[in-house]
Amino acid sequence: MELIIDTADLDEIKKLDALLNVDGVTTNPTIITRSGKTPEVVIPEIIEYLRPDQKLFIQVVAEDYDGIMEEARYINGLRPENTYAKIPVTREGLKAVRDAHNEGLGVLATAIFSPESAFLAALNGADYLAPYVNRMSNYGDGIQQVADLIEMLAVQDLDTKVMAASLHNTNQVHELILAGIQAITFPPAILNSMIDQPGTVGAVHDFTASWEKNYGRTTLRA
Ligand code: E4P
Repeated sequence: MELIIDTADLDEIKKLDALLNVDGVTTNPTIITRSGKTPEVVIPEIIEYLRPDQKLFIQVVAEDYDGIMEEARYINGLRPENTYAKIPVTREGLKAVRDAHNEGLGVLATAIFSPESAFLAALNGADYLAPYVNRMSNYGDGIQQVADLIEMLAVQDLDTKVMAASLHNTNQVHELILAGIQAITFPPAILNSMIDQPGTVGAVHDFTASWEKNYGRTTLRA
């Protein structure tokens, strides 16, 4: 499974990349505005930091077909490889997914709220599909719908990957891993809550305290 970070905060990216095998970074227009920097500053910063093998997903802002295609070409041109345009699965977007794929551009179909629209994007050649798990859960069983999507792609022999997005708790992560998700884009807060287990920290504290009390040191060897 690919581990992706859903942020444009370079400090967060660096911190998580220092302790996990991070496969890439996703942003969307709102995430970029949250960085407090302009896109002209934040996007090059992230590009400069990422290794060539780490993937970068940047979302188009234009809503019309020509604008989406122009931005998809621009995004793919930012790095020689491992860069994908995130294209929302609107009517204009679906058409752009197909044509961008046919031009050889990397494409992630995003803002997905149903397995059926996701499936159309897969048929149109998207490399990745990003269902908005938490937002889908406002209308039904978002996890089950994503599990169905994974199964639909498998039985139809499509190699498009599903990247779960819009995650709001670790239970959603747990269920999606069990369902065989190919990629998850994690908000840093969720990854941090998976890393920082109070029970683990407490257990280590107790081990060290008993060791120190008996041997007067906090290392294995004197
Ligand atoms: C992916 O990058 C999506 O844009 C993002 O996960 C959406 O998350 P939200 O529903 O928390 O805004």
